Amino acid sequence: MTRNFPWVFFICLMSLVCCEVQSVSAKFSECEECHIKISPQMVQDFNRGVMAESLTCKNCHGRSHMNAGDVDKAQLPTIKTCRPCHSGQVKQYLSGKHAFGLIAMEAMPYTHRQPQAFVAGQKGCGGCHTLGLQDEKVREGEGRKYYRYGMDCQNCHTRHSFSKAEASEPEACMTCHMGFDHAQWEMYSGAKHGVTYLINRTIDTKNKDRAPKCQTCHMPDGNHRVFSAWGFLAVRLPEEDPEWMGYRATILKGLGVLDPAGNPTARLDIVKNAKMARLTKDEFQAERERYVNICRQCHSPNFVSENIRNADLMLKEADKLFAEAIEIVAGLYQDGFIQKRKEYSAYPDLLTFYDVNTKIEQTLYEMFMDHRMKAFQSTFHLNSDYATWYGYAKMKKDLVEIKELEKKMREEKIN
Ligand code: HEC
Ligand code: HEC
Ligand code: HEC
Ligand code: HEC
Ligand code: HEC
Ligand code: HEC
Ligand code: HEC
Ligand code: HEC
Repeated sequence: MTRNFPWVFFICLMSLVCCEVQSVSAKFSECEECHIKISPQMVQDFNRGVMAESLTCKNCHGRSHMNAGDVDKAQLPTIKTCRPCHSGQVKQYLSGKHAFGLIAMEAMPYTHRQPQAFVAGQKGCGGCHTLGLQDEKVREGEGRKYYRYGMDCQNCHTRHSFSKAEASEPEACMTCHMGFDHAQWEMYSGAKHGVTYLINRTIDTKNKDRAPKCQTCHMPDGNHRVFSAWGFLAVRLPEEDPEWMGYRATILKGLGVLDPAGNPTARLDIVKNAKMARLTKDEFQAERERYVNICRQCHSPNFVSENIRNADLMLKEADKLFAEAIEIVAGLYQDGFIQKRKEYSAYPDLLTFYDVNTKIEQTLYEMFMDHRMKAFQSTFHLNSDYATWYGYAKMKKDLVEIKELEKKMREEKIN
C-alpha cells in the first residue's frame, strides 16, 4: 500500500497536467498560437482575465493581420471597440472629464512647441493626456501617425488583464494624479482617509471600506463619469463674494480668458468646450452636491459642510496672494519692463506654463501650478502638511520673491 502510493499520486498528477495543457491549447486561437511565442506573458494575462471566457484577440484587434509581415494591419482598439459590450461605462466615461484629456492638452497655446516625443510620443504631457481619443481616425490610419499606442480604458484596467479589481484600488489613479501640479495621490495617501483605507486593506480586511478611496468619492457606484465642482483651474463663475470676484477677475486676465479691460476673449470658448470651469451656479452646485452626499454616508451633515466651507475659504486665501502677484507682473508688462510677445496682452499668459522668458514669470508659474494647486487641492484631500508647507507657505515665499525681482527689474532699467 505504502509502496504503491507515490505511483498513484504520480499518475493522478500527470493526468491533471495533461488535461490542463490540452484544455488550454484547445482554447488557444490562431493569434495566440503565434503570440505565445512572441510575448507569452501577454497571452497569459489575457487568459487569466474574465474576458478570455468569451473573447479572443480578434474581438479587439480584428483579423486582418495574421503574420509578421502585415503587423500594421492589426487594429489598435479605441473606446468604440469596447462600446458594443460595455455601453454603460462608455457613455459615463465620455460624459466625464477624462474624455477631455486630449482636447485640454492640445488647447494649451504652447503644447505644439514641445518636443514631439514628449507630447505625441507620450513621454510627457501625452503620457497622461491619452484620454478621449478620436477613434475613427485611428482606425483609418489617419491619427497618431507618430506613435500608434495609447488607449483610454487601459489607463485603469491595464492590458491584457483588464481587471476590475485592479482599477478599484486607489493606486490605479496614482500614475497620473501625482506629483507637481496634481499631487492627489500624495495628499490622499498621507492623510486620514488614505492612511485609514490602506491600513485596513491589509490588516483588517473586514473594515476595508471603512474609509474612502479615490473611487468612493469620484466614481461612486462604479460611475465612470469623473467631474469635480472647482476643477483644476478653480475659477468658477459667477462669484457671489465681491472681494473674491476681484481676485478671480485678475486670475482670469492672467489666464487670458478676460482681456485687460475685463471683457471675455476667444479663450472663454476653449474653457467652455473643454469644460475647464463651471460657468453657472447650478452647474457648480450639481457637482458639489454629489460630493456632499457621499461624505454624508460616513459623516454628519454639519461636519461635512464645515469642512467643505473651510476648503473653499482656503482657496480664497490662496487666490488673494496669487492675484497680488499677477498684478505685480502685469505692471512690468504695462510699464515695458517685460517685452510683450505678439500673443500677449498687458498681462502675463499663465497658460504658457514654464515657457517664459524671465525669472519673475518662472516664479509666477510655480506659484500658479505648484503652490496654488497644492494649497487648495490638499484641503479637499485633508492633507494639512501639503496645505501649509507645500502650498500656502510657498505662495508667501513666491510673493516675496516676486516683489524683490520686480524692484530689481525696475531699478536695473532706470540705472
Ligand atoms: C504568425 C505569427 C502571428 C500571428 C498568427 C498573429 N500575429 Fe500578431 N504579431 C505578430 C508579430 C511578429 C507582431 C509584431 C511583433 C513586434 O515586432 O512588435 C505582431 C503584432 C501584433 C499586434 C501589435 C500591433 C502594433 O501595432 O504594435 C497586435 C495587436 C497583434 N499582433 C494581434 C494579433 C491578432 C489579433 C492576431 C490574430 C487575428 C494575430 N496577431 C496573429 C505575429 C503574429
Ligand atoms: C478587450 C480588448 C483586447 C483583447 C481581447 C486583446 N487586446 Fe491586445 N490590446 C488591447 C489594448 C487596449 C491595447 C493597447 C492599445 C494601445 O495602446 O493603443 C492592446 C495592445 C496589444 C499589443 C501591442 C502592445 C504591447 O503591449 O505589445 C499587442 C501585441 C496585443 N495587444 C496583442 C493581443 C493578443 C495576442 C491578444 C489575444 C491574446 C489580445 N491582444 C487581446 C486590447 C485587447
Ligand atoms: C465582444 C464583447 C466585449 C468587448 C468588445 C469588450 N468586452 Fe470587456 N467584457 C466582456 C464580457 C462578456 C465580460 C465579462 C462579463 C462582465 O463582467 O460583463 C467583460 C468584462 C470586462 C471587464 C471587467 C473585468 C473584471 O475583472 O471583472 C472590464 C474591465 C472590461 N471588460 C473592459 C473592456 C475594455 C476596456 C474593452 C475594450 C478595449 C472591452 N472590455 C471590450 C465583453 C466584451
Ligand atoms: C503625470 C501626468 C500628467 C502630465 C505629464 C501632464 N498632465 Fe495635464 N493633467 C493631468 C491631470 C491628472 C490633470 C487633472 C488634474 C486635476 O484636476 O487636479 C491635468 C490637467 C490638465 C489641464 C487642465 C484641464 C482642465 O480642464 O482644467 C491642462 C490644460 C493640462 N493638464 C495640460 C497639460 C500639458 C500641456 C502638459 C505638458 C506640458 C501636461 N498637462 C502634463 C496629468 C498630467
Ligand atoms: C479612471 C479609471 C478607469 C477608467 C479610465 C476606466 N475604468 Fe472601468 N472601472 C473602473 C473602476 C474603479 C471600476 C470598478 C467599479 C465598481 O466598483 O463597480 C471599473 C469597472 C469596469 C467594468 C466592470 C463593471 C462591473 O460592474 O462588472 C467594466 C466593464 C469597465 N470598467 C469598462 C471600462 C471601459 C470600457 C473603459 C473605457 C471607456 C473604462 N472602464 C475605463 C475604473 C476605470
Ligand atoms: C473623501 C472623498 C475624496 C477622496 C477619497 C478623494 N477625493 Fe478627490 N476630491 C474630493 C473633493 C470633495 C474634491 C473637490 C470637489 C469640488 O470641487 O467641490 C476633490 C477634487 C479632486 C480633483 C480636482 C482637483 C482638486 O484636487 O481639487 C481631482 C483630480 C481629484 N479629487 C482626484 C482624486 C484622487 C486621484 C484621489 C485618490 C488618490 C482622490 N481624489 C481622493 C473628494 C475626494
Ligand atoms: C492616464 C492618466 C489618468 C489616470 C490613470 C486617472 N486620471 Fe483622472 N484625470 C487625468 C487627466 C489628464 C485629467 C484632466 C482631464 C481634463 O480635464 O482635460 C483627469 C481628471 C480627473 C478628474 C476631474 C478633475 C476636474 O477637473 O474636475 C477627476 C475627479 C479624476 N481625474 C479622478 C480620477 C480617479 C479617481 C482615477 C482613478 C480611479 C483617475 N482619475 C485616473 C488623468 C488620469
Ligand atoms: C466611507 C466613509 C467615509 C467617507 C465617504 C468620507 N469619510 Fe471622512 N473619514 C472617514 C473615516 C473612517 C475617517 C477617520 C476617522 C477619524 O479621523 O477618527 C475620516 C476622517 C475625516 C476627517 C478628519 C477628521 C479628524 O478629526 O481628523 C475629515 C475632515 C473628513 N473625514 C472629511 C470628509 C469629507 C469632507 C468627506 C467627503 C468629501 C468625507 N470625509 C468622506 C470616513 C469617510
